[in-house]
Amino acid sequence: YLSNGEMCNWTGDVHTVLSPICIRTATGLERKVIGTYPLCGPEEAMASLDAAVAAYNNGRGEWPTMSVADRISCVEQFTRQIIAKKDEVVKLLMWEIGKSHGDSVKEFDRTVEYIYATIDALKDIDRHSSTFTIEQGIVAQIRRSPLGVVLCMGPFNYPLNETFTTLIPALIMGNTILFKPPKHGTLLHYPLLEAFRTCFPKGVVNTIYGRGNQIIPDLMKSGQINVLTLIGSSKVANELKKLHPKVNRLRAILGLDAKNAAIITQHADVKLAIQETLLGSLSFNGQRCTALKIIFVHKSLADEFLKGLAEAVAGLKFGMPWVDGVSLTPLPEPQKPAYLKECIDDAVAHGAKVINENGGETVASFVYPAIVYPVNKDMKLYEEEQFGPVIPVVPFEDLEETIEYLIESTHGQQVSIFSNDDDEIASLIDPLVNQVSRVNINCQCQRGPDVFPFTGRKDSAEGTLSVVDALRSFSIRSLVATKLNDKNKQ
Ligand code: G3H
Repeated sequence: YLSNGEMCNWTGDVHTVLSPICIRTATGLERKVIGTYPLCGPEEAMASLDAAVAAYNNGRGEWPTMSVADRISCVEQFTRQIIAKKDEVVKLLMWEIGKSHGDSVKEFDRTVEYIYATIDALKDIDRHSSTFTIEQGIVAQIRRSPLGVVLCMGPFNYPLNETFTTLIPALIMGNTILFKPPKHGTLLHYPLLEAFRTCFPKGVVNTIYGRGNQIIPDLMKSGQINVLTLIGSSKVANELKKLHPKVNRLRAILGLDAKNAAIITQHADVKLAIQETLLGSLSFNGQRCTALKIIFVHKSLADEFLKGLAEAVAGLKFGMPWVDGVSLTPLPEPQKPAYLKECIDDAVAHGAKVINENGGETVASFVYPAIVYPVNKDMKLYEEEQFGPVIPVVPFEDLEETIEYLIESTHGQQVSIFSNDDDEIASLIDPLVNQVSRVNINCQCQRGPDVFPFTGRKDSAEGTLSVVDALRSFSIRSLVATKLNDKNKQ
């Protein structure tokens, strides 16, 4: 692991990484061992934190005081180096989290594009910083300054992209970084460590690996973390924040649980709704925070919608991540198939049915998508975030029922409306945009394009990300103000 500018050798316990891709053994199908990573203990984690604190040096370190142009040039050099590692990282994305080859390439390319867009956005902000404002005899130079040490934790479903969409903006704004990759998605960062080591001053970027619940609490309790950025669970984020001794001094930039709904009104184009809900619910096996996780369909269209959706699911290709055109791949979390079965069984026990052939069937780490209907509020699938290939469908009569659902939900990320009636859409936008942070019309929910603000209400997020918003999130607006007097007026 990388700590204080050095690749540290490891002699302690290791975590054995099991791929979601299984091999046949004498006892049946088993997840293949693809590597190990160090299980850093509290001391190693604390030493990495100390390195980040020392590199920041209360804002007097080399990195936070470096010119923006020089920081940009370090990040450009880093980007050139990681581009050379693309094939290795793509391969590890497939083996470590089961992402299809096409989606793994997209994740890598999107990350590189994001870094370049971030550089352009910062150049723009910097141009504005070199202008001066004069008000009431005071001349001010307004700039953006770093916040300190950032603890950065990305999710398993976008282990590269969603780690870098927080890490890179935090870094380029002059903060120092302590970064813990997700449990599933650690190995793929290995090829990039040398670029971190050689492109940035010592201690500016440090990694820690291991069991979050054993190493992160002490880091939070130390009070030395200035920014917590986590894309993951709302529960974990809340627990971690509470450990900070001066929580009012901690900035949190969080992307959390979501239960995005699609609302298919009686005026919807059903074909379009099927196409978009299929992609929205099942891209990367439904393992996206932006996935559609509950579908409300008007009773008058329910039969047509369910039949079409079941046919569309049957047309999806199952297979290993490297197979051409594959969309359904093995799931990285070993406990996920059992959890999804529990959700489906619970719905069935409360009166729903799996309406598509083979829905919910599990073979090793594969789970065949299940369309569950009719779902109601007595079932887990109504409010819990399943984060997997299960599509709960709820019939409704009155649109008010769907608005009530969103008002009562603890989640507030996005919603999709499907309707061809402009007046109906217009009547829904205000009530919905006041419940969630993004309303999609006749299309699925998603994060991109990356220049769009990405956030959520209620328990779904804290702070805002996007190319420009992230630069703001990881910095503070500061100014240098000079009172004009006779001498400096000249
Ligand atoms: O998992 C959460 C991601 O933010 C989803 O991003 O909509 O681009 O797939 P995406």
